Amino acid sequence: MTTATRLDTREISPLIGTEIRADKQVLLSGEHAATIRGLLEERGVLVFPRIDFTNDEQVAFTETLGTLATEMRGEQVYNVTLDKTVNKGADYLKGSLYWHLDGTMNEVPILASLLSSKVLPSNGGGDTEFCNTYAAYDDLTDEDKQAYEQLRVMHSTWTTLLYYEPEPELRMLQQMMAIGERELPLVWKHRSGRKSLVLGCTAGHVVGMDRAKSIELLVRLREWATQPQFVYRHQWSVGDLVMWDNTGTMHRARPYDPDSGRLLQRTKLAGEESFA
Ligand SMILES: [Fe+2]
Repeated sequence: MTTATRLDTREISPLIGTEIRADKQVLLSGEHAATIRGLLEERGVLVFPRIDFTNDEQVAFTETLGTLATEMRGEQVYNVTLDKTVNKGADYLKGSLYWHLDGTMNEVPILASLLSSKVLPSNGGGDTEFCNTYAAYDDLTDEDKQAYEQLRVMHSTWTTLLYYEPEPELRMLQQMMAIGERELPLVWKHRSGRKSLVLGCTAGHVVGMDRAKSIELLVRLREWATQPQFVYRHQWSVGDLVMWDNTGTMHRARPYDPDSGRLLQRTKLAGEESFA
């Protein structure tokens, strides 16, 4: 009987992020899939430095961890780039420069995203930041936890549009409004018993709260959840793979030159738990 290879792991900071160094073939074998899934939920972000997966390998690795979620047109891999010749929907990525979690418009948001870097800006920028929304919830005072317990927040894609296009064309606004809105709990009570905060640039207003108070609360909580102790900032090297638990983190890209050719490739794990 062969002994399973040990995973070489290192915590990046106390509350978020673990670096995993492993042989590519060992990861693709799936022998550590359960450990990786456990670490993902516990640590929010997992970094595989310079693992250099090809697209097919990234898809295969993703499938060792759960069900691969395809893109709208059925693609397994999505090109994250602001270059419109590579990604016609690049404009929608402008919202990714602001703190968010993916899939707030879906009944069941994706469980995780895996992002690998192919081309990086030669002139810098384009780091990706993550914050741990489980840890941010846990560190609230009991009084705050109680006050937020029952609050509901209206989320929409058009709210994000106003971050990067404060005076949008009506047609553009209407297109995004047609996507709809979703009322989500501010505090997500997971099946595991843990709780995380549901925030981000899709959050428009707290249901039933005065407009100014609502905005103040959402900004207060975003500021709280993105304090340095909850944040990991990834500075990319070509070939890195970073995956994050979309249900217990928020993320954002830092600005970069849209003409820099920056190209990351993403696969996703299908969601397993609704917000309710
Ligand atoms: Fe995103």
